[in-house]
Amino acid sequence: MPKATKGPFYISTPIYYPSDNLHIGHTYCTVMADAMARFKRATGYDVFFITGTDEHGQKIQQIAEGKGMTPQEYVDMIVAGIKDLWSTMEISYDRFYRTTEEAHMERVQRIFQKMYDKGDIYLGKYEGHYCTPCESFWTENQLVDGCCPDCGRPVTYASEPAYFFKMSKYADRLLKNFKENPEFLTPETRRNEMIAFIEQGLEDLCVSRTSFDWGIPVPFDPDHVIYVWFDAVAYYITALGMPDADPDVITEMYKKFWPIDYHLVGKEIVRFHTIIWPAMLMSLDLPLPQHVKGHGWLLIDGGKMSKSKGNVVDPVLLIERYGIDALKYFLLREYTFGQDGIFTNEVMLKRMNFDLANDLGNLVSRTVSMIDKYCGGIIPGAGAEEGPDAELKALATECADKVEAAMNDWKFSVALEEIWKVVQRTNKYIDETTPWVLAKDEAQKERLDTVMHNLAESLRIIANLIYPYMHTTSNKIQEQLGLKVEEPEWEETKVFDMIGGEKVCKGDPIFPRLDIEKELAELEKIKEANMAAAQAAKAEEKKAEFKPEIKFDDFDKIDLRIGTVVECEPHPDSKKLLVFKVDIGSETRQILSGCHDWLSPEEAVGKKVIVVANLKTAKMGGMDSEGMILFAETKDENGKTVKADLVSGPAENGTQVD
Ligand code: MSP
Repeated sequence: MPKATKGPFYISTPIYYPSDNLHIGHTYCTVMADAMARFKRATGYDVFFITGTDEHGQKIQQIAEGKGMTPQEYVDMIVAGIKDLWSTMEISYDRFYRTTEEAHMERVQRIFQKMYDKGDIYLGKYEGHYCTPCESFWTENQLVDGCCPDCGRPVTYASEPAYFFKMSKYADRLLKNFKENPEFLTPETRRNEMIAFIEQGLEDLCVSRTSFDWGIPVPFDPDHVIYVWFDAVAYYITALGMPDADPDVITEMYKKFWPIDYHLVGKEIVRFHTIIWPAMLMSLDLPLPQHVKGHGWLLIDGGKMSKSKGNVVDPVLLIERYGIDALKYFLLREYTFGQDGIFTNEVMLKRMNFDLANDLGNLVSRTVSMIDKYCGGIIPGAGAEEGPDAELKALATECADKVEAAMNDWKFSVALEEIWKVVQRTNKYIDETTPWVLAKDEAQKERLDTVMHNLAESLRIIANLIYPYMHTTSNKIQEQLGLKVEEPEWEETKVFDMIGGEKVCKGDPIFPRLDIEKELAELEKIKEANMAAAQAAKAEEKKAEFKPEIKFDDFDKIDLRIGTVVECEPHPDSKKLLVFKVDIGSETRQILSGCHDWLSPEEAVGKKVIVVANLKTAKMGGMDSEGMILFAETKDENGKTVKADLVSGPAENGTQVD
């Protein structure tokens, strides 16, 4: 194990919502973070790598309720699966953090209290939209076609008392941070998006909810739970033990690792990490993260993976069929950091066959077999240099610097490409030096030994170089070369002629060749079965959407009447509500309805509607509502909510509907 002499290095993944099992997209992020953590450890850093689960919020509460479980039971079940996945994938995190841990909750409350005491949090009223899947607040203007601008799903209207964080107060400092530190957020496209977001005008952030209770209570007002994103981003410092119960204590972990070196996050949550989180840190008078890296998404058929479509790619299935290292290699090699990438089975299988089975797998088995056959299984010592030797040695020993440069730039695919140049050059070296010809001539024994030595040396260097990305394969190569199986010293990738005298140990092919056609057919079959299961689940869900059965007597209690809208005005204090006057034959009723999003007052006047005429008068937005109008909300072909007329026939006002 290399000594950590280069100082601390702190890296995080986002904490995943345990709303469902994780898919290949989540795996992609964690695999990158793991490769970076392993690379930094190998190159001499004292690494703290954290990941975990973001367990509060409305989404989790709703899902758990739907399954008839408590939120805690539900998250415990999903989190166990997530931990299993990371253990199967041998993810080398130093800490798995759960936001339902007692210590985290106390620390988040301290943060909330501190910001409140400073005057940065105040009580107000939230009126706007909320995207539950993204756990994001949106104003009317931010919606796209009435839906969440991030995920495109419908939003719900929320109107409730809430605490607000004075984020607007920090807009100038946030902007300055982006402008003065181009390295704070990369890639640059994301940085430009964030600058534009702030320049549009930064509003104060709603940081508490009252309409559900699965969250951390506001310490001084337990009717409110702390907004799940406030709770989540805080994890980056609460995981370091801050803020301690004693305000004078600064924990050793915090002193050592804060400010964090890298937050690795997906592109849709860059805003939370480069605007909201830094503004919170500014309020707490703490230093900002050093870097945020926004990666792209893995898409399938051009769109996002979704459980309901049945098109999610399950990493466990791929690991079972092809192995952890093949999957990790594919993810890191195929996609360009920062950009979206399309996942297809065919591209994956080809990469695995060409790069792993053909290039690397063949090199290992050819080298070990030839040393076995021509040298009695013992790796020869170094010999006189001739022909392509110098070029091979230079390429192999200079590779580490190129890998380091690529990794410092988060270019995993370039780092692996550089290593594969050495793999391919070494394979070519075999073809150039034709050991099988040398073996036929006793006079060439010395040259044959040198060639075998150079092959073994190149392979040793390759095994060391791939360690951060595929440590099991690295160890298997070391084993076949008869070397001590351990975490390699990175500096030893920069020197040739280190081995000689080791006894090779021929093993199974490290990457068996795949029958691509056969694999594609099997994967397709699995996908079809998943899609059919998703369709069936959807149909079940639809059935489950019906309310419990009622008796005729129950229905008969409701007095439904036909009416005509004679007046309609927007509510003076609410963007959502319309105030209708409806003629129901015997009288005209004032009825309020939350349909301003999709119905204009002008369109409403003259419309025939069905009214629940015997509903108890209720206050809505401070005004009396004497009944209820029945509307059918539906979606047009673009997914936009539109009004649907319920009455189209020539019914008289006051006619009973039964
Ligand atoms: N809980 C929040 C993060 C809080 S961090 C303080 C969250 N969770 S998430 O489970 O929805 O997403 C976690 C990460 O997975 C995000 O960075 C997201 O971009 C990433 N991915 C989810 N699907 C993905 C793909 N299909 N492709 C790549 N990454 C994707 O957001």
